[in-house]
Amino acid sequence: MVSGIRLYTESGFLSKAQHYQAVLSLRGVSVSIETVEKLNARFLRLHPEIALCVDEHGLWLCANGMKMQPDWQAEVPRLKRASLKSEMIARACNLAEKPTLIDATAGLGHDSLLMAHLGARLTLVERHPILFTLLEDTKQRAAQDPFLAKIVSRIELVFADSAEYLQQQIQQHAKFDVVYLDPMFPQRDQNQQAVKKQAQVKKQMQLLHLLLPEDGDMDLGDYLLDLAMQISDRVVVKRPRLAVFLANLKPDHQWQGDACRFDAYFTKKTC
Ligand SMILES: C[S@@+](CC[C@H](N)C(=O)[O-])C[C@H]1O[C@@H](n2cnc3c(N)ncnc32)[C@H](O)[C@@H]1O
Repeated sequence: MVSGIRLYTESGFLSKAQHYQAVLSLRGVSVSIETVEKLNARFLRLHPEIALCVDEHGLWLCANGMKMQPDWQAEVPRLKRASLKSEMIARACNLAEKPTLIDATAGLGHDSLLMAHLGARLTLVERHPILFTLLEDTKQRAAQDPFLAKIVSRIELVFADSAEYLQQQIQQHAKFDVVYLDPMFPQRDQNQQAVKKQAQVKKQMQLLHLLLPEDGDMDLGDYLLDLAMQISDRVVVKRPRLAVFLANLKPDHQWQGDACRFDAYFTKKTC
């Protein structure tokens, strides 16, 4: 987990940068601000190490000459094409029933945004302080967008480790319709079968992988499955197509796609 990081900004955005510095400090990340003359593509190319930057569009993660933020506005055309029938995730999570859903591995929030668009009411849990702050910023921007505002009103963000969050929900006897899990997964699955690489790994995913732990000490999230099953009727796990089952537990049902699949565990066996 990152404990200290540089943040680049131009002088016009210094107070904004100080705001993020204060927020991240409360979340355990020490940020050193560097004011630069021009925060442009050339600057980012010349400073390839992982860092943050702040401009008129808010907070960004940057590295290797690229910058990224969870871009929910860019998802709008995809959301407009999506339907309960066409989306495998909608069938896996039974979105037609407008479920209450915990996404316990929020990441960039793209899966959740789609699920909120298709009717779910979601709690997104993310434990990485920088990713969480990027998500929070993105949600605030999305709330100003006429198409996204209603969708994001169905999304609540929680900065926590899901193991602790799910434990709390168990203690409070809370119940949710669905828990959705999409933990990080190594490029190769545990059977050493090559997981099909997408022709073009999205820039956002490349940067996400830089921020999160390397394959060796990657947390595969096996322990989340049992906790999730204690508070929901259905747990849905997104996996690369050839990956082993989460916690080695065979699902009750699977939906298979070209690059990924959804494994479903029904805790009410009437499904
Ligand atoms: C593969 S990404 C999820 C991508 C997401 N489905 C999306 O659409 O953008 C996995 C995310 O889960 C988070 N994560 C993994 N284990 C977690 C845990 N125990 N608690 C909270 N977040 C966790 C990681 O920090 C990472 O951001």
